[in-house]
Amino acid sequence: MKFRLTAAVVAAALVGTALPSLAANISISASSTGKNLDLFRKQLDEFEKATGNKVSIVTMPSSSTEQFSQYRLWLAAGNKDVDVYQTDVIWAPQLADQFLDLKDAAKDVVGDFFPSIIQSQTVNGRLVAMPLYTDAPALFYRKDLLEKYGKQPPKTWDEMAATAKEIQDKEREAGQKDLWGYVFQGNAYEGLTCNALEWIKSSGGGQIIETDGTISINNEKAAAAIERAKGWVGTISPGGVLAYQEEESRGVWQTGNAVFMRNWPYAYALGNGPDSAVKGKFDVAPLPAATDGDKPSSALGGWNLAVSKYSQNPEVAIELVKFLASKDSQKQRAIELSNLPTLSALYDDKDIAAAAPFMPAWKPIFESAVPRPSASAKVKYNEVSAKFWTAVHNTLSGNGTAAENLELLEADLTSLKGDNW
Ligand code: GLC
Repeated sequence: MKFRLTAAVVAAALVGTALPSLAANISISASSTGKNLDLFRKQLDEFEKATGNKVSIVTMPSSSTEQFSQYRLWLAAGNKDVDVYQTDVIWAPQLADQFLDLKDAAKDVVGDFFPSIIQSQTVNGRLVAMPLYTDAPALFYRKDLLEKYGKQPPKTWDEMAATAKEIQDKEREAGQKDLWGYVFQGNAYEGLTCNALEWIKSSGGGQIIETDGTISINNEKAAAAIERAKGWVGTISPGGVLAYQEEESRGVWQTGNAVFMRNWPYAYALGNGPDSAVKGKFDVAPLPAATDGDKPSSALGGWNLAVSKYSQNPEVAIELVKFLASKDSQKQRAIELSNLPTLSALYDDKDIAAAAPFMPAWKPIFESAVPRPSASAKVKYNEVSAKFWTAVHNTLSGNGTAAENLELLEADLTSLKGDNW
């Protein structure tokens, strides 16, 4: 069944909210990953029809890092051209002062959201963004290839690498020259912070900065986890993986050229799309861990909607945010884009479970996902992350060992921290 947002559904979502009498032109700035903008456009059309306002989209690159740099500049300059921003879960402490407090506007619905996500978007008691979807990555695997070679989805990183290598070698011999074992996000940007945090945390190496603010990254388990990943580059992963973000990995995967892929749930719906070479041929499993005894770790991701304090139409912007984060809009997003809802009730929704059968099982995975240290590093998070991904990228590129690079990173982070974060 296709779920459709109709003007009536939009109107129902807005019941009890006073519609502004004058129509306004506003804009929303959003990521171009996958089909995100297509879905936004569809939902914005319904919002326009129901309210008489006009909403334009400011198209942003897919990279969270590039978006952040641009937004920081615009907001610092008091940009009035963007009313609503799609914001990454890690940005709240850094951009909080530039966004309106949505606490009052959200008071009737806030209890329907996962409290931990609301918490992540609350800075000094102000709700700076409404949760749109949450994110926790998966190990995507080719069911057909694993079956053919009598393999199970791997539980450890070494098992993943061994299975990837065996299938890659045998399939190449049989003529599948372009097949790779594993694709992930190795570019020097926020996505590498997520990947490397997962390798390290699932190997007992901590989470870069612990929740009490301690810098823990310079340890042997963390170094071993990064060295392990370095061993993948050029063997089971193409050398080009050092420039891959989410969309490049998905490109290789979706054309049928990878056995395994680490990616976020959005790649599930796209992989099962009509133009996908892997449609119906894959499934998802939790990411591996270092040993069978270690717990797998997914980095906690997710996106939200914030209203700029420079917006000249804040009431309309707030209505739009409420509408896009509403139950019906999130349901449509879960079905069409396989984004994980931020409303707990939707994990029992039959239409969602039919469209994305992994989703009910993903609730405990995102609930136990490891947050990046943005709450501890606060306004310094972006610098912390940039230093971390640089140390990891250097190691993966053969520029220093993990142990050397982590020692330098520790020194750098210590001076960045100063007396306190
Ligand atoms: C996903 C996550 C986001 C993360 C980004 C890194 O979009 O939802 O939180 O920062 O990937 O590339």
